[in-house]
Amino acid sequence: MSRQPLVAGNWKLNGNRTMVRGLMDSILDAAAEIDATEIAVMPPYPFLGQVQELMDSSGLGERVRLGAQNVSLYDEGAYTGEVSAGMLAETGCHYVLVGHSERRALFGESDQQVADKFVVAQRAGLQPVLCLGETLEQREDGITEAVIGRQLEAAITQAGVAAFADAVVAYEPVWAIGTGRTASPEQAQEVHAFIRRTIADMDAKIASCLRILYGGSVKPDNAAELFNQEDIDGGLIGGAALKATDFISICKAL
Ligand code: PGA
Repeated sequence: MSRQPLVAGNWKLNGNRTMVRGLMDSILDAAAEIDATEIAVMPPYPFLGQVQELMDSSGLGERVRLGAQNVSLYDEGAYTGEVSAGMLAETGCHYVLVGHSERRALFGESDQQVADKFVVAQRAGLQPVLCLGETLEQREDGITEAVIGRQLEAAITQAGVAAFADAVVAYEPVWAIGTGRTASPEQAQEVHAFIRRTIADMDAKIASCLRILYGGSVKPDNAAELFNQEDIDGGLIGGAALKATDFISICKAL
């Protein structure tokens, strides 16, 4: 089984047109030499078009892909402020994050809404990147697997296990996001293996092809160790995705 490694940069609520230009120039330059790893860039909505144009003119098409950080549950209509999956697809997005812990915690997205977004994204031809993660309290209570299992089950129940042939999963312990506190490679591997096992119980082939990314304070100096774990197929990078040199060295660590 071979799973192409993927490193995705989640820019969150950061950037401006000048920064986009500089960051993308560096990433696209470096990407020409990184052929084993797929790279995804997830800027805020207003910069999707600009990033897509820069990608198009680089001719790196399949290797560097565009992603969005969120998607509406709705296809069209009176939903002020929302952006639909169809619009993202038309803008050139290949990926979209669903259920990032910041969406769950700060914007009240439930497991059910995240599962619905997973389905809506796929219906528009996007690959959802389903984010799962436990809080520090949940880890200390020893319920990490129960929490991850529940978040994963919601999407499986809604979309069916076969849908995971066209999806990516990201394990992001909430306590490791933006805190500088990374999960140890062993802690991350344990949860990644649990996620793969859960899918494998339903469909072994889909599980063996499924890419499971780790996210949470990935930096150039801890990336290689994390990516060396058997069930870690890449990373979802926040803070370090905003610095070209850091992001590129993380991509090269794979
Ligand atoms: P971080 O963020 O790399 O800054 O911890 C990861 C994420 O939120 O996707």
